[in-house]
Amino acid sequence: MGTVNHSAKRDGFTSGFGVLAATLGSAVGLGNIWKFPSLTGANGGAGFLLVYFLATLLIGLPVMIAEISIGRQAKANPITALRQLAPKGRPWWLIGASGVLASFLIMAFYSEVVAWVFAYVAKAVGGSILSSDPAVTQRAFDTLISDPLQSLLWQWLVLVFIGSILLCGVSKGIEAVTKRLMPLLFLLLLLLCSVSLSLDKAGEGLAFLFSPDFSKLNASVVLTAMGLAFFKLSIGMGTMMTYGSYFRDDQNIPRTAFRVMTADLCVSLLAGIAIFPAVFTFGFAPSAGPSLVFITIPAVFAQIPMGHVLMVVFFVLTAVAATGAMLSLMEVPVLILHERFGLSRARATLTTLVMLAVIGSGCALSNSTLAEFRLFGLNLFDLSDYLSSNIFLPIGGIFIALFVGWSWGLERFRLAISNHGTLNNARLAGAIFFLLRYVSPALILLVMLRALQLV
Ligand code: PFF
Repeated sequence: MGTVNHSAKRDGFTSGFGVLAATLGSAVGLGNIWKFPSLTGANGGAGFLLVYFLATLLIGLPVMIAEISIGRQAKANPITALRQLAPKGRPWWLIGASGVLASFLIMAFYSEVVAWVFAYVAKAVGGSILSSDPAVTQRAFDTLISDPLQSLLWQWLVLVFIGSILLCGVSKGIEAVTKRLMPLLFLLLLLLCSVSLSLDKAGEGLAFLFSPDFSKLNASVVLTAMGLAFFKLSIGMGTMMTYGSYFRDDQNIPRTAFRVMTADLCVSLLAGIAIFPAVFTFGFAPSAGPSLVFITIPAVFAQIPMGHVLMVVFFVLTAVAATGAMLSLMEVPVLILHERFGLSRARATLTTLVMLAVIGSGCALSNSTLAEFRLFGLNLFDLSDYLSSNIFLPIGGIFIALFVGWSWGLERFRLAISNHGTLNNARLAGAIFFLLRYVSPALILLVMLRALQLV
């Protein structure tokens, strides 16, 4: 095992609530609003929920705990952390390196959706997108995404906004901001849920979300549920390792991970409860992806009393959710450039911004200038989305589980998650270790192979 660097000056989270808020801030994001509810509704409601829940419990949670433990033990970025903890000469650090690639892949399309959300906050305030005619809201959205200049400018604005928070550091930037945003998010969400549930056809919306249809389950739906679990919990690419490196030594890792998973699930369910009763009440089809958020939702709000204000609330809430997630995504390359390549935090942030502006422009322009450009039948936006959730994150997850299960070993893992013997959780550690060593990698591999029709 390599040396472990306990630098006293390293920035990190300062309070228990700060750890929870930042980690939850990473998990909660656009995924809760734009992916989870529509995927659940479209893929069989409660049946999909059950598969998602099992994937989270048997794969997501153990991998999340593994990542956080690795990060906290090494107190370093994912590449250095894996180099330190792995036996000399073994290339486990490649997991960290591929995580950086995955983070750019995700940010490339994610930052563009966040850009639309920010643009819609401004448009919602101005009232220009409030129309009960979906043809009008569709036109408003098409105008935004097919305008290369607007797409790029909003994306750059988002990058500068997130970058300026990161410049303030981990405790004064990420922690301080997410500590304020997470309670606000819950508050706004509860407000929207209460309005939505009071509408006429609330029952139909809830039925769409929750009534089980097991006939819809097949291998590719299971892969979708598993990919969603990875995407939702921000695992498989070093984000949780990075945040783990900021965890306090006395933080109870399994408990924090469990709370984050539960709170994230609550946000997803509440988002579904806020969205679908309203969508059904006004007779819209429960579409998925960006069109749900940017076309259907404005048309729905136009028909609700106080709809103008509530629409602002909805897009602010979505922007809040997206901010915490973007912070964690960008922190991965920032920390690596800072720690491994010796750049100052300011330079590391700036370099990441510039790289992202270049890479992200491919997705920003995928509905305008690059609309014709396709790989495997998908435009750059959809391709990055598919590749990251369904390929990169699960493969990253397999290797993280294998690293802990077969290289780091039970004793070190147990020490790490018991805070060096302070917590009495040896049996829990044993159970998580068993999942990591055998169950999670085998399940991930099986699901991937089946979904890609290789077995
Ligand atoms: N968990 C975020 C969401 O659900 O929107 C997305 C995400 C953030 C994925 C950070 C991966 C990541 F590292």
